[in-house]
Amino acid sequence: MFLNKEEEQMLQGEYGEVVSKALTAIVKVGEVLGADSLIDISHAHVSGISYFNIGDAGIDFIESLAFEGASFRVFTTANPYAVIQGYKQRNFSDEVLSKQLKVVSALRSMGAKAFTCAPYFIRKPKAGEHIAWAESNAVLFANSVLGAYTNREGGPLALFEALTGKAYNAGVHLPEGRKPRCVVEVETPKNYLEAALTGYAVGRRCPSEIPYVKGLKSIKEGMMRSFLAAFGATSGAPMAVLEGVTPGWRKHGEKIKELPKVEVDDSEIRAVIEEGGKTHVKPDLYIIGCPHLSSEELIEILKELSSCRRYEGATEIWLITGRYVSVPDHLNRLNPNIKVLFDVCPVVTRLDKLGIRTVVTDSGKALYYLPKLAKVDVVIKDRYEIISEILRGCG
Ligand code: F3S
Repeated sequence: MFLNKEEEQMLQGEYGEVVSKALTAIVKVGEVLGADSLIDISHAHVSGISYFNIGDAGIDFIESLAFEGASFRVFTTANPYAVIQGYKQRNFSDEVLSKQLKVVSALRSMGAKAFTCAPYFIRKPKAGEHIAWAESNAVLFANSVLGAYTNREGGPLALFEALTGKAYNAGVHLPEGRKPRCVVEVETPKNYLEAALTGYAVGRRCPSEIPYVKGLKSIKEGMMRSFLAAFGATSGAPMAVLEGVTPGWRKHGEKIKELPKVEVDDSEIRAVIEEGGKTHVKPDLYIIGCPHLSSEELIEILKELSSCRRYEGATEIWLITGRYVSVPDHLNRLNPNIKVLFDVCPVVTRLDKLGIRTVVTDSGKALYYLPKLAKVDVVIKDRYEIISEILRGCG
């Protein structure tokens, strides 16, 4: 691999041992993936920071970097962490709490600016900008909607890229790596549920290849995020070329006609609904905000729920977002069962250990991951259906 002078110096330890080790790992991965050089990045996003996922070994590793005085060389954000606070009776042990907070504080000391799975609300990359993000939904949004260039990195590699400001120049950093390999025409989703189900089904039909997707250009941004998050759960592709949306989508022009067509029909979508379809079940928890809600989405939901002063149900409602949101005071004092949670991810939390068995959500990504990681059953419903259900439980 060709390395410039700065990169050679980094490798030889002139920028410290941490940078040298981190760059060695990036070069090795890059060589395996056929990269012939490195590339400067302007924004890294680190994932995999939940105590429940990384355990003691992961914490020790991240803390040891901080202890050695490592610091991020580019603007860096990190994924949300486990939901560990706010449960007077059911809280996790002090040990779990303190270990999770250690990870957060180590990342902060290295320069992490925020903890969210929607880092584009903190700093929006421009089209053509090279970045290194882990977290599938953010990667898909960056490549497919913003036109930024990022591979779908693993958590540790994104951490090394943050520490060096470099990524290997392969995959979707190159124009060749951003070409669609199949065409999917979908029916335009009319609501969040349809957007999530469509993304989930398209991902299943395109498990690794970049699809050229027709039919999404008129949907609102929140639904697009929902589609992409669900697509990223069932597919390993780093982006989708969205007709009328992805910057530069026109350049694929006539070549689209030569690509194989992938059908995603009603039966596909129905199969996903059946997967999350125990609609009669009374949930222990409602979750909206996977991926994290935008300011506008959160305020809209809170306004809808503001008439609900006396919520009679035992079911809690979690609205999940990042610190980029400021909630007006009058919407901040709703029923205590309606909780706005910042900087956390319910999916990487052992919800079963909080006594939760069934969750209702509008997220296709949560539908896929909650049973695997949080060990709970899931039902998927449209966002507005969930809100109506909550309002029916209000006095
Ligand atoms: Fe975000 Fe966690 Fe969902 S990282 S996209 S809330 S699985």
